[in-house]
Amino acid sequence: MVGTPGRDREPAPLVGRRQALESVAAAVGAAVAGAGQCLVVSGEAGMGMSRLLAEAAREAAERGVAVAAGGPPNSTGSPLVTLVTALGGGTVPVLDESDREELAARSAVPYRQTALLRERIAAYARSRPLLIVLDDVQWPTRSRP
Ligand SMILES: Nc1ncnc2c1ncn2[C@@H]1O[C@H](COP(=O)(O)OP(=O)(O)OP(=O)(O)O)[C@@H](O)[C@H]1O
Ligand SMILES: [Mg+2]
Repeated sequence: MVGTPGRDREPAPLVGRRQALESVAAAVGAAVAGAGQCLVVSGEAGMGMSRLLAEAAREAAERGVAVAAGGPPNSTGSPLVTLVTALGGGTVPVLDESDREELAARSAVPYRQTALLRERIAAYARSRPLLIVLDDVQWPTRSRP
């Protein structure tokens, strides 16, 4: 077998994080029951934020939740680019091509873009529970996509 060292390896088993995972499980449970939730993961660089998000996504998916994940954005990204990328994923198509065209058409009026996103997210979440995971949203600082 041929492989790139370090790239195809499974991540080490998760250590600790019991309290954080309990918070995630509680939030996912409440969301599945119909009460929308928002969790913010913050900390020093390298302390395991992306890993925790991945664990949260895995656990939510096991409970039948659709998971739309985005980030980290590239240097030209913006908060909306991160969100739109997450919502356009193959398995969780909250946005379709015509939605993306409509977002582009509304680019001069950001609040109309967010209104469209809110509407599409709400419509999708009415059909099944949805977890949106946005990693590294501290990086994008521009206000427009
Ligand atoms: N609780 C944990 N148990 C075992 N391994 C972990 C744990 N948390 C993180 N790791 C491992 O440590 C490494 C760094 O974690 P991670 O990439 O999640 O950090 P981060 O906080 O997202 O970093 P960055 O600031 O670069 O975004 C990864 O290889 C990850 O799998
Ligand atoms: Mg990270």
